Amino acid sequence: MKVLILGAKGSLGQTFTDLYQDQDVTAWDHDELDITQAAAVIEKITALKPDLIINCAAYNSVDKAEEERSKAKLINGTAVGFIAKAASKIGATVVQFSTAYVYSGDSVSGYEESDPPSPRSEYAESKLLGENELSKNLKQYYIVRTTWLYGKISFTGKQNFVQMMIQMAESHQDIDGIEDEFGNPTYAVDLAKATRELVEQKADFGIYHLVNEGTASWYDWAKEIFNVKHILKAKLNPISRDRFIRPAARPKYGILKNTKFIKLRPWQEALKEYLA
Ligand SMILES: NC(=O)c1ccc[n+]([C@@H]2O[C@H](COP(=O)([O-])OP(=O)(O)OC[C@H]3O[C@@H](n4cnc5c(N)ncnc54)[C@H](OP(=O)(O)O)[C@@H]3O)[C@@H](O)[C@H]2O)c1
Repeated sequence: MKVLILGAKGSLGQTFTDLYQDQDVTAWDHDELDITQAAAVIEKITALKPDLIINCAAYNSVDKAEEERSKAKLINGTAVGFIAKAASKIGATVVQFSTAYVYSGDSVSGYEESDPPSPRSEYAESKLLGENELSKNLKQYYIVRTTWLYGKISFTGKQNFVQMMIQMAESHQDIDGIEDEFGNPTYAVDLAKATRELVEQKADFGIYHLVNEGTASWYDWAKEIFNVKHILKAKLNPISRDRFIRPAARPKYGILKNTKFIKLRPWQEALKEYLA
């Protein structure tokens, strides 16, 4: 199978590039293809003719998106339409990643794939636009919503939550862990493997929620990181999200329920493997 990975230098993009080494894989980031350039997207993708396009390119600065609205909208939204149009010309399937942040987060039990989105931030709006641009322009697509992702460090060196917690604890900093905002910590390797399964099993096209099973608050997640790493002296304080002021709104219960596909392993197990 000919596979094209976009955003290949990011955290998830690198994971997919590794996972598809047994296939005819092409890995592109900014330098090879800027996904916001419509003509280049059509030209380069139709020339390459991949069977599968996995789009990991994204604008992920949730807070900065409040100021850089049009940039976020272009990368996460409009550009996904360009990729979809290119894919439809050559009959390729597209996998697009989205987020739990498309939901309001008011539902304590979380969200199933068919629940209607209700974004509360510019980042969330832009990701939902990407979902819509894909489904509007292509039939053969998988929208995979996930959340609280960790794995490889991106080429730009952006740390994930797990690495950040360890570094803060090791430098003896006081750490505030939000105890009343919830999600599903998800290991990029597990997400990538499950996504490949989805494609290889020829699951029905549409929307999927792929996350490690179980939920946690940011505080729970940090506590588990310190337990697994045997960092006994971490100064971790539980705080309410009302005291942790951020420019963009986040869902209080950003919990995704996977009701359509094989469930991933519990988040604690995946974290243990990542930290081993
Ligand atoms: N991280 C999470 O917690 C999380 C949660 C839910 C969903 N997701 C979704 O999962 C997917 C993968 O996320 P990730 O954490 O792997 O992201 P990431 O590490 O930020 O990687 C994104 C990659 O895309 C590149 N990129 C940005 N704009 C581009 C453009 N115009 N053309 C080509 N490449 C471009 C980035 O380059 P630069 O860094 O140089 O800009 C980076 O290499 C995204 O769709 C994201 O929205 C992530």
